[in-house]
Amino acid sequence: MSPATLGRIGFIGAGRLGQTLAVAVAQSGAPVAAVGSRSAASAQSLAHRVSQVAAMAPVVCTRAQAVVDECDTVFITVNDDQIVAVAQGLAWRAGQAVVHCSGATELGALMHAQAACAHPGGFHPLHTFGDVDTALAGLPGCAVAVEAADEGLRDTLMNLARRLHLQPFELPPGSRALYHASAHYAGSLVVTLMDEAVRHWGRFGVAPEQALAALLPLLRSTVRAMESRGLGPGMAGVVARGDRGILARHLQAFDAVGAPERQLYADLSLRSMRLALDSGRINEEQARMMQALLLNPPPSTLA
Ligand SMILES: NC(=O)c1ccc[n+]([C@@H]2O[C@H](COP(=O)([O-])OP(=O)(O)OC[C@H]3O[C@@H](n4cnc5c(N)ncnc54)[C@H](OP(=O)(O)O)[C@@H]3O)[C@@H](O)[C@H]2O)c1
Repeated sequence: MSPATLGRIGFIGAGRLGQTLAVAVAQSGAPVAAVGSRSAASAQSLAHRVSQVAAMAPVVCTRAQAVVDECDTVFITVNDDQIVAVAQGLAWRAGQAVVHCSGATELGALMHAQAACAHPGGFHPLHTFGDVDTALAGLPGCAVAVEAADEGLRDTLMNLARRLHLQPFELPPGSRALYHASAHYAGSLVVTLMDEAVRHWGRFGVAPEQALAALLPLLRSTVRAMESRGLGPGMAGVVARGDRGILARHLQAFDAVGAPERQLYADLSLRSMRLALDSGRINEEQARMMQALLLNPPPSTLA
């Protein structure tokens, strides 16, 4: 049997993502029928939130097995390191859909359910779930990675995504760790780069809050440029302009700070150079000269 519809929907794990997704699913008109979590308080909180937007409150189950028994589709929204243990500890039915929301966890984590002829699936919204109300407000328009070997479940999850105003895309098996790791370049690693900039501004006396306030509008305009023009054409800065003289001064400034700081700047600039070259912003000669500068060790490290 193939899950052509979600049927009665259950959630095991009433944390940040579980609470938000359950409310969004209920808001879309799909029936959230049962919920369970490690603590009764979390499950009750999820049920209360759903009851605010749906005609019927979900049943709060003290045992996760009761959620499985009650529902046709079960979202396992526990912490990543608990997914295997939770899925293994439950008795699944043939034809049931069992869906986790982890980015990096392969569907093999649900193999115990698959052995009972249930259908494993992945539904990973590319979104940060913190405070439930804020996460709900930011959900429309987000991308969501959908994976399921069963075609019926895949279509059903794609349809759910559209009902939630998400942008679904399919993830092939075996790609989840790389997919999830690389998504960090658009998320937490941007924060790391901002921290790098803020700390450098501290060296010439600007307080961290002031530096962040000054750099955030630059980050916003960078995002807008990428949205409107794409990566290469939207990129600004010395590498995109082929400005070798200023690049040399940047490297001297980082040499004075330390070798790791110079290395990070040089590595990122080399990646920027490839983008600038591929998009026709600089020519081969400019690229070659900048590359020589970036690959040259600072004078102090020469024997
Ligand atoms: N947060 C995000 O930004 C985000 C984004 C995309 C995907 N995800 C994915 O969403 C999933 C959940 O993450 P989260 O951030 O929502 O985590 P979370 O806030 O820590 O919530 C996890 C929930 O699972 C419950 N739980 C843990 N172990 C359990 C068990 N053995 N049995 C039943 N319930 C259990 C916890 O219970 P109690 O509260 O009852 O103690 C908690 O409510 C993960 O797979 C994560 O990768 C999260």
